[in-house]
Amino acid sequence: ARTVRVAPSLLAADFARVGAEVAAVEQAGADWLHLDVMDGHFVPNLSFGPQLIAACRPLTGLPFDVHLMIAPVDPFIAAFAEAGAQHIHIHIEAGPHAHRSLQTIKAHGVKAGIALNPATPADAVAEVMDVADLILVMTVNPGFGGQRFITSQLNKIERLRRMADATGRDIPILVDGGIDATTGADCVRAGADTLVAGTSVFGKQDYRAAIDALRAPAGI
Ligand code: DX5
Ligand code: ZN
Repeated sequence: ARTVRVAPSLLAADFARVGAEVAAVEQAGADWLHLDVMDGHFVPNLSFGPQLIAACRPLTGLPFDVHLMIAPVDPFIAAFAEAGAQHIHIHIEAGPHAHRSLQTIKAHGVKAGIALNPATPADAVAEVMDVADLILVMTVNPGFGGQRFITSQLNKIERLRRMADATGRDIPILVDGGIDATTGADCVRAGADTLVAGTSVFGKQDYRAAIDALRAPAGI
């Protein structure tokens, strides 16, 4: 069985107690912390920027998995690297030069992820596989937490897993949006290995039970 990672999305946390929330999911066994950055332009919502990420950095040892839903993205890559990101994902739809953006991320010593919206086919990332360290499959239309999982993405995950394996490198495939124990297990069967989860972690009372519930059935 694949090892399944869980990356709670801070977007669903209590923003009045952000530091305590970060510490709580680390205590509860999270693998990575997912941080959603929205610009009100690439996606129809605003969230937070590098200042909040930098403020959280000293509070935890969790790798910071930063999901940039912003366009243009290149002017902001350095700021997120300096804020303490271990991974930075950009969207293939966010501009004409995704290959260059991924190279720029790597030049900062940060792992580079390529994200795909639900409407974007797997083949759209074929020619950036050589510079991608991670793949982030959106299983909802980005912009908001708490949306319903889009089942059609399962086939895309299967195709992306074959493309990733063909590189001969270990490329994690993350799924993001509407992930719970059921949809997460479906994604893992399709080839995903990392479950991003907002509502199904921070929406629960017991974060450890929530993270275990995501990992357990998926790990079978
Ligand atoms: C959506 C974000 C997600 C979001 C997921 O644009 O990229 O990371 O926080 O939230 P849930 O798990 O509630 O669908
Ligand atoms: Zn996200």
